[in-house]
Amino acid sequence: MGSVFHWVTAVHILTFLQMPHLTTGQFKIIPPQNPVIAIIGEGVVLPCQLKGQNNPETITVQWILSRHSEKIDVSTYDGEKKEERQDERYQGRTQFFQTEFQAGNVSLNLKDVMVSDKGKYTCSVSLGTWYDEVVVELDVTARGGESSIFMEDYADQGIGLTCRSEGWFPEPQVLWLDSKGQNRTEKPTTSNTNTSAGIYNIESAINIEPGSDNEVSCKIINNILKTASESRVLISDVFFPTTSPWMATFLVILFLSIALIAAVWYKLKKNNDTTSLSVTEKKTMEEEKEHLLSTLETNKRTDQIAIQDIQENIDRLSGELEFRRAQSYAVPITLDPDCKHPELKLSEDQKRVWQEPASPELAAASRALLVVGKEGFVAGRQYWEVEVREKLDWELGVLSQSARDRVKREKAEKLPEEGYWSLKRSQGDFFSSIKNGKIEKKDMPYKVIGVFLNQKEGRISFYDAGHMFLITTIPAEFTNNIWYYPFLSPSTGEQKPLAIHPIRVPIPLKPLRKEK
Ligand SMILES: *[C@@H]1O[C@H](CO)[C@@H](O)[C@H](O)[C@H]1NC(C)=O
Ligand SMILES: *[C@@H]1O[C@H](CO)[C@@H](O)[C@H](O)[C@H]1NC(C)=O
Ligand SMILES: *[C@@H]1O[C@H](CO)[C@@H](O)[C@H](O)[C@H]1NC(C)=O
Repeated sequence: MGSVFHWVTAVHILTFLQMPHLTTGQFKIIPPQNPVIAIIGEGVVLPCQLKGQNNPETITVQWILSRHSEKIDVSTYDGEKKEERQDERYQGRTQFFQTEFQAGNVSLNLKDVMVSDKGKYTCSVSLGTWYDEVVVELDVTARGGESSIFMEDYADQGIGLTCRSEGWFPEPQVLWLDSKGQNRTEKPTTSNTNTSAGIYNIESAINIEPGSDNEVSCKIINNILKTASESRVLISDVFFPTTSPWMATFLVILFLSIALIAAVWYKLKKNNDTTSLSVTEKKTMEEEKEHLLSTLETNKRTDQIAIQDIQENIDRLSGELEFRRAQSYAVPITLDPDCKHPELKLSEDQKRVWQEPASPELAAASRALLVVGKEGFVAGRQYWEVEVREKLDWELGVLSQSARDRVKREKAEKLPEEGYWSLKRSQGDFFSSIKNGKIEKKDMPYKVIGVFLNQKEGRISFYDAGHMFLITTIPAEFTNNIWYYPFLSPSTGEQKPLAIHPIRVPIPLKPLRKEK
């Protein structure tokens, strides 16, 4: 009998002792799937789930980050006080799902993940005397941006390419591949930079050698997310440098062209045949336009030359016309034996004049010896010509009546001070009588000089009658009712004659005065 009591008591005690354990025995933290991966800048849930339903709200949850030797109380929920506490480094970034506590969800919501959040988090839960914890490993990563390949320059006959991409974590793997996806034989140099936030910007350079596989791909791999960013270029052999530095520029242009062609090709691929036909048509039109433009340009140039030619012709012809108009006023001239220097000899027809005999003293004196025309003119226009031939020095022109009278008084030994207008050749150069102005000479021998006395318009012009162009014009003030006479002056010491040149053109006869 006593033994039975003993057993009952024993069972009772045993049951009593086991009571709390059985109550809390329904709790258990479900081990999370590790690691949890968070994207930098985004949010993540650090999971911690209790097994079972209807959990008491007095639960206390603590999330602790163990980093190096340091322990950070990231966030704590105190079930007694029903409040959350955060470490200052996590201020405003963590949050419990309090409404989920009943369902045993004591996960921590972490916002705006940073590189420094990486680490092992302990989720510790205590409920009365019961306690349990799990470790959640948080791995952080950054996806990384698009990668781009840049043509940098030439180096050792190759082309220097650089691949760039920003925003990677952890430091990614950079691979340079060929058309078959194999690692390239050329050795790249990768120099990644680390921003203050711990994010990596990638820069990898490679020198593509001529003759190697010309499809180049830069592949940047995020080993956490198992994702990659890849960009690809195709470099034709013709782009590889010979030795000329301009190739760099050329290359850049071609590179851009390739990009453009690729874009166009892509567009074309998406469109149907009709579109591609219209593209061909457009291209033909473009070529036609180019052709027309170049033809137009050529024509324009030819036209300009033609216009220049015509202009020159017009100039020449108007000069010639002016000469012919002057020549139409031709009058016959005879030289006056009564108004000449005694040493000057006249031909029988009184058209030619020369010096004879040339005494050595007189020749040395080098004086101007004059002969004046018989005919004088009081108005209108007159034209006559003088043969000068190869004579070295001469002077010819027009004298006023008073100048003629003075010359006659002084035995025609020299030109008067005023009242005359002349063209003079001296030692191969030409001068007009205005301030003895030197005249720019055309590179041709003046053999016949035309003198145009234009009293109507107040000027005297001298022409090269052989080539029909104007040598010079002298403005002159003619006085009404005063007579004007031609004069010739052969240089001293020469026996070659100056001569009045006959003109075979209809002569408009003008008032003519013979010496009384
Ligand atoms: C806890 O609740 C949050 C919010 O509803 C949810 O996102 C998360 O997945 C839950 N955690 C677990 C472990 O079920
Ligand atoms: C290329 O090289 C990397 C390391 O540099 C290596 O991990 C990878 O397997 C190689 N890939 C190929 C296709 O050989
Ligand atoms: C990157 O930069 C961060 C902060 O500036 C620094 O803590 C970290 O050691 C750097 N990492 C490397 C690999 O240089």
